[in-house]
Amino acid sequence: MRIGVLTSGGDAPGMNACIRAIVRAAISRGHEVVGIYRGYAGLLREEFFTDENGLQLMNLRSVSDISRRGGTILHTSRCQEFYTDDGVRKAAEILRRNNIQALIPIGGDGTFRGAVALARFWDGQIVGCPGTIDNDLMGSDYTIGFATAVQTAVEAVDKLRDTADAHERMFLVEVMGRHSGYIALYTAIAAAAEIACIPETPTDIKEIVDRLRALKARGKTSVMMVVAEGDERGGAANLHKALCEHGCPYEARILALGHLQRGGSPVPQDRILASRLGNYAVDAILQGKSGVMAGEQKGELTLTPFEDTFAGHRPVPQAYVNLLETLAT
Ligand code: F6P
Repeated sequence: MRIGVLTSGGDAPGMNACIRAIVRAAISRGHEVVGIYRGYAGLLREEFFTDENGLQLMNLRSVSDISRRGGTILHTSRCQEFYTDDGVRKAAEILRRNNIQALIPIGGDGTFRGAVALARFWDGQIVGCPGTIDNDLMGSDYTIGFATAVQTAVEAVDKLRDTADAHERMFLVEVMGRHSGYIALYTAIAAAAEIACIPETPTDIKEIVDRLRALKARGKTSVMMVVAEGDERGGAANLHKALCEHGCPYEARILALGHLQRGGSPVPQDRILASRLGNYAVDAILQGKSGVMAGEQKGELTLTPFEDTFAGHRPVPQAYVNLLETLAT
């Protein structure tokens, strides 16, 4: 069987470990892997990986020493054309013409929406792997890249704490998460921040200012506030403005970590998750499965229909929200 693999949407540390696992698992079971560059956009342009002998197949060596590297060796993109029937029809035709019988897309909700669209015009098998730092997909307790993004954010907040303490200031640190507070909440707990503002809980300016006043009265010299970019107040800059208007008792500075969180060498947790899921996706294809995402839930490997992975917002654990509040007060 010939299996295609692509990475799509925002890159996530660990995508390379996943590609490696897919290539090695497929080859060890006697199958072929076509590496598709630049996600669905590259598929539409037939941009395939070519080895040193000009062969359009990935081999064992093409994935050597990539697990520790951030980004994705196949590159990635967001593809507008794939939102049209014409685009998807064209992709299906290209897959057929290249004799690709199965596809493993690695990405987030947009990637799996694309997979659902593709399945309307293509009868090959599609099994996805969750690769996004946001950790916002149903069907896997953690997505590939999340742990590394949190590690990066925690390191940044730890450093900012030093300067915040020295100047007796507050920092509003904005982390990624368009619709999800996972990165913000985990970062806040790990970095012992005082406050996290996330889309899943109401952000009440007056209440925050009251808390800040209480911290100040208690003699707290520095405050770290972790803000998810998707918080309903519109990110750290807007939040800062609103807090100042309501008499914020601390002098504050803002830092948006942005794409920094997507880079860097993946932590072992992401490499291991990526390796397990890549291998499992190949197994699932060989067992005839399709239309599903490979995930890990409570330590078990699972398959979840694509539609369910992006249906609704994945809630953050209430116990974590409570924990932060308990420890920060
Ligand atoms: O989906 C992952 C993500 O990192 C989001 O957290 C963020 O809002 C977005 O990607 C940024 O995307 P882009 O690469 O288009 O700037």
